[in-house]
Amino acid sequence: MIELKDLCFAYEDGTEALHSVTYSFEKGRCYCLQGPNGCGKSTLFRILTGLSFPTSGTYRFDGREITAALMKDRAAARAFHRRIGFLFQDPEMQLFTGSVEDEIAFGLRQLGMGEEECAARTERWLSALELERVRKKAPFNLSGGEKKRCALAAVLAMEPEVLILDEPMAGLDEKGQAWITDFMEKLRSPERLILFATHSSDLAGKAADTRIFMNREHTIAAPGQQA
Ligand SMILES: Nc1ncnc2c1ncn2[C@@H]1O[C@H](COP(=O)(O)OP(=O)(O)OP(=O)(O)O)[C@@H](O)[C@H]1O
Ligand SMILES: [Mg+2]
Repeated sequence: MIELKDLCFAYEDGTEALHSVTYSFEKGRCYCLQGPNGCGKSTLFRILTGLSFPTSGTYRFDGREITAALMKDRAAARAFHRRIGFLFQDPEMQLFTGSVEDEIAFGLRQLGMGEEECAARTERWLSALELERVRKKAPFNLSGGEKKRCALAAVLAMEPEVLILDEPMAGLDEKGQAWITDFMEKLRSPERLILFATHSSDLAGKAADTRIFMNREHTIAAPGQQA
C-alpha cells in the first residue's frame, strides 16, 4: 500500500534526515518504527502524510506517486488526506478549534458526515479518551497529556484506513499509556494499515506485528523483523 524507494530527504538548512529508505508497508499490518532521537522517524511520517516531499527517490501510495505537484491538485490532495490519519508528535501542531468537542467534530464534518452521526461519534470519542470534563475547554488551555488525548480522539474518530501515530504514548499518564497499548491491539484490522513511532518497548512489543528500526545513518536498518 505504501512503497518507498531510495527515499532521501534533507531540510532547507542542509540537515540530512532520511537517507535511501526503501521499504513497503502493507495493508492489514501494524508497524512500529523505532530508532534514536533525530534518526528521522517524524520526518518520514511528514512525508507519508504529504506534508513534505522527498528530495530524491519515490513515495507511492496505492500505486500513485505522491509529489508536491499532485498535492497541489485539490481533489487529489483531498482524496489522499481522507485516507490517512496522522497524530503529530507535538499535539499543538494539530489543535486549532475553540473547544475539545469541536476539535473532534471538525474532521467528521470535513468527511461530510451528517450532524446526528457526527454528534454521536464525538460523544463516543470524548468518552473513550476521558475528555468529557474538558469538552468545552479550548485545546490550547489543556494539560500536555490532555492535548495528546484530544488530538488522538480527533484522529481516531475519523477511523482512517491508514493511521500514522507519532509517539502516541508520549506525555500520557500510566492509565493513558495502558489504554493506548490495549487500544492499539484492538485497532488492528485486515482493512487498515497502522504505523507508529515509539520509544516504549512495551507498546512496540504488544501492538506491532512488524518492528522496524531506523539508525543514525537515517535509513531503515534491516528488513522488517517479526515481533
Ligand atoms: N524543521 C527542521 N529543520 C532542520 N532540521 C530539522 C527540522 N526538523 C527536524 N530536523 C532534523 O532532522 C533530523 C531528523 O529529525 P526527526 O524529527 O525526524 O527525528 P525523530 O527520529 O523523529 O526523533 P525523536 O525520536 O526525537 O522524535 C534531526 O537531525 C533533526 O535535527
Ligand atoms: Mg520524532
